[in-house]
Parts: sequence; structure tokens; C-alpha cells
Amino acid sequence: EGPAGIEITKLLKETGSVTYDPGFVNTASCRSDITYIDGDAGILRYRGYPIDQLAENASFLEVTYLLIYGELPTAAELEAFSDKVRRHTMLHEEMKGFFAGFPSDAHPMPVLSSAVSALSTFYQDSLNPFDRDQVEISTVRLLAKVPTIASYAYKKSIGQPFLYPDNSLGYVENFLRMTFGVPAMPYEVDPVIAKVLDMLFVLHADHEQNCSTSTVRLVGSSQANLFASVSAGVNALFGPLHGGANQAVLEMLQQICDDGGNVDTFVDKVKNKEAGVRLMGFGHRVYKNYDPRAAIVKKAAQDVIARMPEPDPLLDVAMKLEEIALADDFFVSRKLYPNVDFYTGLIYKAMGFPTKMFTVLFALGRLPGWIAQWREMIQDPDTKIGRPRQVYTGAGERSFVAMDKR
Ligand code: ACO
Repeated sequence: EGPAGIEITKLLKETGSVTYDPGFVNTASCRSDITYIDGDAGILRYRGYPIDQLAENASFLEVTYLLIYGELPTAAELEAFSDKVRRHTMLHEEMKGFFAGFPSDAHPMPVLSSAVSALSTFYQDSLNPFDRDQVEISTVRLLAKVPTIASYAYKKSIGQPFLYPDNSLGYVENFLRMTFGVPAMPYEVDPVIAKVLDMLFVLHADHEQNCSTSTVRLVGSSQANLFASVSAGVNALFGPLHGGANQAVLEMLQQICDDGGNVDTFVDKVKNKEAGVRLMGFGHRVYKNYDPRAAIVKKAAQDVIARMPEPDPLLDVAMKLEEIALADDFFVSRKLYPNVDFYTGLIYKAMGFPTKMFTVLFALGRLPGWIAQWREMIQDPDTKIGRPRQVYTGAGERSFVAMDKR
């Protein structure tokens, strides 16, 4: 911060030394006004507002507005913003052909990232990162079209026809209808499901410089447009150590159940670090205390699953795993607690989403954070192209060896 930071930068330039910090554990890549985390105290705030207050009281679009524009909207501002988003939910008709080109068993995450990247080809009038109006329209287009893309990726995977958006519905309700509705059949959105999904999106909306957000900023630092930068973020989110963890958690719980439900045996495998087995949905680079989002998600999972006709045995496995891990020195000494993804998959499953869609749902939630961070980065006079240094460990200089002498 301030003069000390400048001093260090000058010193590095003068001495020519670099900092070796794999995984950027101790390196701040930017200054940001958007999200505050205190990992030791388990605190998360968007623009100063505690996450539990936002989850309880604010809608996803309201939080989106807060993250992007810095303040909570008035009722009139929120209505105008929602209206703008509603007007852009349709995809260019030719984009449908794009979906047809993928194999039907394709994972929807690469379909999503490809389609987001393709927005640069269909909406060429909004690619200039320094034109305020163009940034504004590309912001709205992304927010409006990503749910449509996500539901089309799902429809494609199950061989059903695409549904056009119904703009009389709310943001989340529209997404649910496009995903689970069928043409010419009435579809009633369950208001409880819609409310919980909206709340989960709020919990995922931003998380400062995580892997995908840092990717969005890094790609954007080359002055790549918003669609290109967000598409890169979707790919970063796909990995199982990041957004892909929600899918990995459910697969892990299912595997434990299929193996007879012995939670202790699985925990032993993790502690013995057998073939790199980790307790998915546990641990976090920043939180060394209970992830404040995880506590809210756990409560929602219990509520949603209680509404199911049959209880989900995977919930019991998850709760048992948590109980054992929180009492075990391996996890306690490493400060490993459940993260946001430990219980989300169980909720998505109860809502009827297939496992492959879980990380797509995370992407829908994280979208406003990516956009807000990209916009902050592009407007920041301190932004320079992201270009980390390295510590070279390869061969010293050697002379070229002709092909017949090798
Ligand atoms: N299960 C078992 N052991 C773990 C776990 C876990 N989930 N997470 C960390 N550890 C152990 C490591 O083996 C290591 O132990 P060691 O000191 O004996 O070698 C120690 O804890 C520190 O782990 P690191 O990998 O160095 O921690 P890092 O901060 O780099 O990783 C991460 C954080 C990637 C989230 C890690 O905890 C993990 O892999 N968790 C499981 C995947 C997951 O849930 N990801 C979602 C994260 S939240 C999100 O992106 C939405």
C-alpha cells in the first residue's frame, strides 16, 4: 500500500531481483474496492455489506448492480436495470447452429465458454474496452445472455429443443423455465426453488482475486474485450480445485455411498494422501475458518432436501464427513473447513440439475463479479498488462547440435 509499496517496486527494479511466489499466495495483483475477505475471522463483504445480510435480503440482480456500480440500487434504478437485462435475453438465431456443432455428451462448461467467446463474433459493436457505452451494453448482454446459453447447453445435452426466454419472468425464474420447461407444455416455476437458487447466486457473486477472477483480469489487462475475458474465466472455473469442486463433491459423496457408506475409511484415505485423494469441498486458500457462505448453504440444503419426497442419503454422508473432519487433527491443524461448494451440489441435485450442470450454475452466479472486476481493472490507471516474472531453472547456454550428431 502507498509509498512502502512503491519503495519495494523501486528496489526490485534497482536490484533486478524477483519474488518467487507459486500460486500467488502472498502477492496482491491489484487494489480493489469490490469485495473484502478476512479469512481468519470468516468475514465476506461485497462493497462493505456482510454476505449474510445480502443473502437474506437482496435479490441476485440487486447484488449484481451493487457489485458493478458500487451502491445498492433504489427501486427505480433496479427496475430500469432489470428491464435493460430483460431486453437482451435472446441469442442471435445463428448462435443456435453453434450449439448443434458440439457432441451431445459434451460437458456444458466448455460449451458455455465457447458460446461466451462467440459473443465477440455476434456483437462486434461492443468490443471496445475504453468506450463506456460499449462496456455498458456488453455488460448487459452478458448478464442477459449467459443464462440463455447455459440452458441451451443443457437442452443440447439431453436432446430437447431450445426454449425462447420468457421476459415476463424474473431472472432466475426465466433460467429455470428455459432449462426445465418443454415447448407447448405449461411450466410452473417453484417459487421456493427460485428463491434458493437466487440466494445461491448471491453467495457466489464475487470472491475477490480467486483463480477465475484473476484470469478475467489478466486476460483483460491485455485490453481483450469483456466477452473474451469472461470466457477465459469460465475455463478457469471449470477445474476441480475451483468451481468444478461442486461436481467433484457430489461424485465423491456418491462414491462413498456406492462403496458401502463407510465415511471413516474414506477419511483415512484422505489423511494418508492416497493417490492424491482430497476431501472435496473442504479447504480454502483464504478462509482459515468456517467459510461464511458454507454455513448459509448448509442450512439451505437441509431445507430444500426436507421438501423432497425421499430423503437424500448423500446429505447424511456429507454431514457425517463434516462432523468427523471437524474433530480430526489432520483437518483442524491444517485449518480445513467446508467451503461454499461442500453442500451446494446436494441442493442443485434436489432441484433436478444433473451433476454436469453444477459448475455452470456457479458460473451464472460468479458472472457479476467477473464483470465488476474487469470494469474496475480497465478503469484503473495503475493497470498494466499482467506479465509475471519467473525463476529460470533450465540449462545454461549450450551450442546447437546438428541433427546427425544427436
Ligand atoms: N482435503 C485434504 N487435504 C487438504 C485439502 C482437502 N480438501 N485441502 C488442503 N489439504 C491439505 C494439503 O494436502 C496440504 O497438506 P500438507 O501441508 O500436509 O501438504 C495442506 O492442506 C495445504 O493445502 P494446499 O493445497 O497447499 O492449500 P491451497 O491453499 O493451495 O489450496 C484448495 C486450497 C485448492 C481449495 C484446497 O484446499 C483443495 O484442494 N480443496 C479441495 C477442492 C475444493 O473444494 N476446491 C474449492 C475451493 S473454493 C472455490 O473455488 C469455490
